[in-house]
Amino acid sequence: MNDRGIFITLEGIDGCGKSTQAELLCAWLEDTLGKGKVLRTFEPGGWSGGKALRRLLLEEAALTSRTELLLFLADRSGHIDTEISPALQRGRWVVCERYTDSTLAYQSWGRGISFEEMSVLLNWCRFPVPHLTIFLEIDEETAKARLKRRGRTTDRLEAAGDDFMARVACGYKELAERSPDRIVAVNAAPDAEQVAESVREAVEKHLLEKREGQA
Ligand code: TYD
Repeated sequence: MNDRGIFITLEGIDGCGKSTQAELLCAWLEDTLGKGKVLRTFEPGGWSGGKALRRLLLEEAALTSRTELLLFLADRSGHIDTEISPALQRGRWVVCERYTDSTLAYQSWGRGISFEEMSVLLNWCRFPVPHLTIFLEIDEETAKARLKRRGRTTDRLEAAGDDFMARVACGYKELAERSPDRIVAVNAAPDAEQVAESVREAVEKHLLEKREGQA
């Protein structure tokens, strides 16, 4: 990537605490780097055309797995072109909730679309690779209990069932093992502030120290 900015993604199964961690991480990064240096965003839907796609993806019952996959990729394409790449080119840090690892874990491990076939599509898309991915690792029961406490209506993917989420969890573990230089697994079971501390440590170790070393 020729961009000057830094790209961080947060990943994990539904109920792992991504949004809370994204908020805490961005607040800390703004304190560390200065105001306006950080873009907090999310998928699906984090761009001007994304609202309609997010609604379709999370609510439309008639989507097949193939249509679902293509819509997630279309959403990402718009998100990158209008939000992520411009921010990185301006030297900002981008913190994005969910990205390509979600597509691999949910659509390949979860829905059963072949990893090799999906890799062909992803290679064609040439989406930027994150500098660091934080995988918020949590067991399915704890995540499910958290979602229940949140008490809001369940979306299509959350409603896909326990076996589906178990396969997604397996996918994330496998992805983390395959890319140890990019993906850092953080135990997401403790309270939010403890998890945030581990996330900050990972960012300091993998990004801030490296940048200082290069300066
Ligand atoms: P998310 O915004 O994390 O849900 P919530 O706001 O309810 O926490 O993501 C919505 C759902 O979309 C989530 O179940 C994961 C799924 N998803 C995929 O299946 N593939 C993808 O590529 C992405 C980005 C998300």
